[in-house]
Amino acid sequence: MRRLQDLSRGTHAGVVTALAAAMLSLGAAPRDPERTPPSDYRFTADHRLEFPVDYREWIFLSAGRGMTYGASANPNGSPLFDNVFVNPRAYREFLKNGRWPDRTVFVLETRKAATEGSINKGGQFQKEVVGIEVEIKDRRLQETEGWGFFEFDGDRKPARQVAKGASCYTCHAAHGAVEQTFVQFYPTLIPVAMKHATFKPQP
Ligand code: HEC
Repeated sequence: MRRLQDLSRGTHAGVVTALAAAMLSLGAAPRDPERTPPSDYRFTADHRLEFPVDYREWIFLSAGRGMTYGASANPNGSPLFDNVFVNPRAYREFLKNGRWPDRTVFVLETRKAATEGSINKGGQFQKEVVGIEVEIKDRRLQETEGWGFFEFDGDRKPARQVAKGASCYTCHAAHGAVEQTFVQFYPTLIPVAMKHATFKPQP
């Protein structure tokens, strides 16, 4: 008898749970794989990319020091640091299948380096920002095969897309280990790309 009562109570709880779930799902977005994913960046009406102000809250992929492959190299000064960030939604997708989803956004932040400061005796630490470069994967950018590059000035005003054919596109396409990106320099992502066989062998 007691068991029966428990059971019926259980059933009632079950109905309540099901109702709550139904109510919740009413408010949720429809499950449509073709649905445009939410963006972590925005374009202005004249197709400029707005500065992604909250990129420092995204996922940190890695830092480089004195990497000399492009315009932000600093041959005469102290080697620069760079920090790479990606939006969290894209990072989570990448962990699942080793590919970047539509609306992925990367920020490459370049910073000055210093040796002298506070109690530091050796080595180097990071100082002020000297450059911000952004790369996005967005299927709307059909002219540049779904990828776009942007450079921001110190004033962080919305940036025009770097023109098709510029070295950003050619170097990234030729040397990036996963799609157009340099996963070979992001140590925690290498095993993920290897596991999903999306890592292109490097020459
Ligand atoms: C000669 C090759 C080369 C060129 C040209 C180049 N990059 Fe890169 N880029 C790299 C390398 C190497 C990395 C990895 C950097 C690191 O780990 O710090 C990188 C990383 C990046 C990233 C981080 C995401 C990723 O793809 O791994 C962004 C954003 C980026 N570059 C933007 C640009 C922009 C904008 C331009 C053009 C103005 C540009 N790059 C031109 C080689 C290049």
